[in-house]
Amino acid sequence: MNRQWLYAKQPQGKIGKDTFEWREVAIPEPQPGEALVRTRLLSLDPANRAWMMGKTYRDALQPGQVMSGFALGEVVESRAPGLAKGDLVEGDWGWQDYAALPARQLTRRITEAPIELLIGPLSVTGLTAYFGLLEVGQPKPGDTVLVSAAAGAVGSMVGQIAKIAGCRVVGTAGGQDKCDWLVKQLGFDAAVDYKAGNVFRALRAACPDGIDVYFDNTGGPVLDAALALANLRGRVVCCGNVSQYDVERPAPGPMSVPGLVVVKRLRLEGFIVMDFYDRRAEAEARLARWIAEGRLKAELDIFDGLETAPDALIGLFEGNNRGKRAVRVS
Ligand SMILES: NC(=O)c1ccc[n+]([C@@H]2O[C@H](COP(=O)([O-])OP(=O)(O)OC[C@H]3O[C@@H](n4cnc5c(N)ncnc54)[C@H](OP(=O)(O)O)[C@@H]3O)[C@@H](O)[C@H]2O)c1
Repeated sequence: MNRQWLYAKQPQGKIGKDTFEWREVAIPEPQPGEALVRTRLLSLDPANRAWMMGKTYRDALQPGQVMSGFALGEVVESRAPGLAKGDLVEGDWGWQDYAALPARQLTRRITEAPIELLIGPLSVTGLTAYFGLLEVGQPKPGDTVLVSAAAGAVGSMVGQIAKIAGCRVVGTAGGQDKCDWLVKQLGFDAAVDYKAGNVFRALRAACPDGIDVYFDNTGGPVLDAALALANLRGRVVCCGNVSQYDVERPAPGPMSVPGLVVVKRLRLEGFIVMDFYDRRAEAEARLARWIAEGRLKAELDIFDGLETAPDALIGLFEGNNRGKRAVRVS
């Protein structure tokens, strides 16, 4: 059988278990030009929730469809040129054991690294951190880099890459444990628990020379504070807005934006990681080397079993992950 989680209904406010529905159907037959893929790992991403809110960089999810999500799997039968049984592939076939897909929707992965690294650090997560920080943020040695959701998948890599680039690095995260982990294990210079009180005051103390690059994963109050503390010609890398995904209606943006942006000559620039996929190989090779050399820790947070996918996603909005959250399906 092919076990699947369907996206059942649009949440009003926070997602819950009733956002999803379990179903078991027959395993699909691959048609000419398609490969049948068996899921090994599923990536859990805050964006999965954002796709429920309406059109983003992709069409909105529709109730009744298989829940979308980035996945890594193995070809079990191929009628597609260029793909053979046993090939490792990635794609967006969602929360299910099997999918039959045309070859153009699958990317073949050849690696010597543990396959768990291919669901995040050596794929979307690592590439987002790498290109977002180095290309959009343009950090220079000695700059102060602030990153939010710093103990999460993207944020933890951003902070470490910024250290490799010679920057002073400060992160925000929910809770003292995560903050201690950032400083003691990942080498951040300072970390601020944004849930512990006045985040502006805490960031001002943690960034005595102001902020040159803010890598924004969250929006919300940390963005407000970062804009106020930004240095002249500072850069804000607009990567995501996780504080506003799991809500009924996103809050309005910071009122201070036009004035601060003008006076400080700030550059706020959004990006989607796929914008840089023509340079994917170069970035993955560098990330793999840093990981192998022990300069970049790729923290994984893996749930076991397709059944756990809703809890794994809900947990991202409770901040109960550290590093890259994924589900091992087979
Ligand atoms: N632009 C792109 O191409 C691209 C690609 C991938 C990801 N992203 C974005 O990158 C960001 C991080 O994604 P990720 O995959 O690395 O997820 P993640 O950081 O591993 O997980 C989400 C984290 O967000 C934090 N969070 C949850 N609710 C929050 C709130 N209300 N306010 C502040 N923080 C909150 C939680 O940490 P705490 O315990 O610290 O609250 C949680 O661990 C997201 O905004 C995502 O959309 C963008």
